[in-house]
Amino acid sequence: MKILAIETSCDETAVSVIEANQNSGAHFAGTEITVLGDALLSQVELHARYGGVYPNLARREHTKNLVPLLREALSEAQLLRPTKETEITKEQIASIKVQLEREPELFVFLTALLAEIATPDIDAIAVTEGPGLEPALWVGINFAKALSLAWNKPLIPVNHMEGHVVSSLLESGKGDTKCIPDVQFPAIALLISGGHTELIQMDGWHHYRLIGATRDDAVGEAFDKVARMMELGYPGGPVVSKLAQRAREQERPEKFTLPRPMMNSNDLDFSFSGLKTSVLYTLHDNEPLSEIDKEIMCRAFEDAVTDILIKKTKRAIEEYHARTIILGGGVSANTHIREAFSRLVEQERKEVTLYLPEPKHTTDNAVMIGAAGYLKHCKGDAESPHADIRAQGNLKLAS
Ligand code: KG4
Ligand code: ZN
Repeated sequence: MKILAIETSCDETAVSVIEANQNSGAHFAGTEITVLGDALLSQVELHARYGGVYPNLARREHTKNLVPLLREALSEAQLLRPTKETEITKEQIASIKVQLEREPELFVFLTALLAEIATPDIDAIAVTEGPGLEPALWVGINFAKALSLAWNKPLIPVNHMEGHVVSSLLESGKGDTKCIPDVQFPAIALLISGGHTELIQMDGWHHYRLIGATRDDAVGEAFDKVARMMELGYPGGPVVSKLAQRAREQERPEKFTLPRPMMNSNDLDFSFSGLKTSVLYTLHDNEPLSEIDKEIMCRAFEDAVTDILIKKTKRAIEEYHARTIILGGGVSANTHIREAFSRLVEQERKEVTLYLPEPKHTTDNAVMIGAAGYLKHCKGDAESPHADIRAQGNLKLAS
């Protein structure tokens, strides 16, 4: 089946078309996901000027970008068929207008496109319902609902964090085809992004249980704040990681020692705010900071974060007899953290399998929403075109 997927939870606008084929019955092992079209526009540079993501700015950008991205994704998937006579009725236009009442600009762009193309050969529309920034989520949801009304296709609401889990499980196959492996349960997913730091235990597909979480800042947030303290720009993760790598390559002296809060606590929770404060005090004590000092600090910070993540995941593997680790979310782009996890599973003597997302799919994208949507559809979770999907900023994957 073909799924059109839409992602607008934060500062990336993404539209994809995937084709999914389930080869075997249970567990999805061997399911093939082919990316037919993948269009994405990142607003990172725009938000960088303000040092963070501004929800209303994100919303405005999504409104502007969705229709061009839809056109691009459909065209890449060879599903954009021009028509001389519109297939959309006046009644449909009227309901789309109501649906896009709060996005009048989007209504104008969308109806112009709908007037000139035939209904594409897709079977369902998947859209992120949360978690994320609600004004941003709403644009994607209203857009998906409008398309579902226009083309009479079912909607599949998708949890963004489930998208990150599935993203890590898409193994590269031939060309643009990805394959879902035979995941061995119990599995532990460590989701690390700008808004989340969660350890989740999975007994099987769609069975999520929260076993650990941050008590304050998320890992990505800590990277971003530490970068801001050293005036390194936004987002902080990639630049902190680059400077840390330079400190290692240049064998800079390790002159700053940072704590590893909660690393040895008797649970699976995390805390990064104390680490961040230690960075702040150490920076103050060492002013003025040279460029080399910044590299050394980035390394000390990245090492501390990595130690904490590894220690807690190791503990989770032991406690839950996990056979699989799934690392996902924006911070899983971090090379040092990826390497540390690879070493961790080597130490487990191949009894544990590690799944990492392709670097390209660590950041938010719509392929992961389409793939997660497909798995949800197989469970029987699709909604009618009139479904009342709502943006849920704090939607949980597990409790
Ligand atoms: O998953 P994501 O794209 O968006 C959210 O759902 O939050 O994650 C974004 C976060 C940002 O905090 C960014 O600084 C961090 O991921 N990040 C990184 C790296 N690349 C992105 N953190 C550490 N190292 C990286 N290479
Ligand atoms: Zn994300």
